[in-house]
Amino acid sequence: EKGRYEHFMLKEINEQPYIMMKIADTIEYYKKFSERLESALKSGSLSIVAAGTSMHAGLIGKFYLSTLAGFGSDVIIASEFPEWSRHIANGDVILAISQSGETADVLEAVRIARDRGAKVFSIVNVPGSTLTRLSDEYVFIQAGPEVGVAATKTFTAQVASLYVISSLISDPTSSEDLREKLLSISNSILKDMGRVDEESRKIAGLLKSREHVFFLGRGVNYPTALEGALKLKEISYIHAEGYAAGEYKHGPLALIEEGVPVIALIPKERSLINKIIYNLMEVKARGSFTVTIQPPDVSLPSDRRLVVDVEDELTSPLIYAIPLQLIAYYTALELGRNPDKPRNLAKSVTVE
Ligand code: F6R
Repeated sequence: EKGRYEHFMLKEINEQPYIMMKIADTIEYYKKFSERLESALKSGSLSIVAAGTSMHAGLIGKFYLSTLAGFGSDVIIASEFPEWSRHIANGDVILAISQSGETADVLEAVRIARDRGAKVFSIVNVPGSTLTRLSDEYVFIQAGPEVGVAATKTFTAQVASLYVISSLISDPTSSEDLREKLLSISNSILKDMGRVDEESRKIAGLLKSREHVFFLGRGVNYPTALEGALKLKEISYIHAEGYAAGEYKHGPLALIEEGVPVIALIPKERSLINKIIYNLMEVKARGSFTVTIQPPDVSLPSDRRLVVDVEDELTSPLIYAIPLQLIAYYTALELGRNPDKPRNLAKSVTVE
């Protein structure tokens, strides 16, 4: 049921702070999975396997596992797994991430990995899905059914779950801190939701007539930029690309001309801010229309600012994802598209 919302996508976007509260209140639930994952990682390498939005969550998971838990990992796109996984052997670990638990490429990757003797851990939303049956260990992201074809609440629930798992590996006694942190993020999202919705709608009004839109991010928000671009292109059909902000000058900069929008996700960490300011000046000097999604109290040379209350760098994708989803949603509406049912796409891709 959509309730008071016009579309499932908007309803699901608005459910996100409540799902984060649920995850905050069930930190203990992730403990066993974290312990077993940590002990499996002592005997082999880790490859994260997923597709689409779940793959973007996987990239953020790679960042968390590296930064918080000190484990290096590889992220392999599920459809490419057969070709890129020949090194995977007995004792290695696969972490499969899938909302539906039915994505054919993910299931195929997991079967291949199992045949080679790898252990399979998975992070899933749909209970009873095929992926849970093929896994040695699994956890649910507890996001509830997602009806909109574009993944929204399941992306942030995957990211929050990966944050909890990586933090617990790093410090198994951190449950209470984690709970408080997630609760405070959910509260700040709830407090700002009305304003962020309104400002995202205005930005959508500026994007609707553009041919290309670029999203830039650094560090943990590089995958968030990829996700912002995926959301926009899949439901508005405007060409959108996400880039690591520093990579942009190695080619894509050639596409910038008068009026091309560049949406930059501004880091909270001061040491990273100067770098992204330089990236912004570069595109601005070539006529780009710049939008920054940013923490308060940072003065930036952008044409339009959307301020959000970012607690810390690591958890910022949970907060930045929301205006990006809303911008995509309202751009689709402006263009008369149905955001719940984008053309050519299905909720779960059960063919390879
Ligand atoms: C994008 C989207 C897809 C899915 C992808 C994987 O909004 O929904 O990119 O993320 O098809 O699906 P799951 O997570 O079910 O394996």
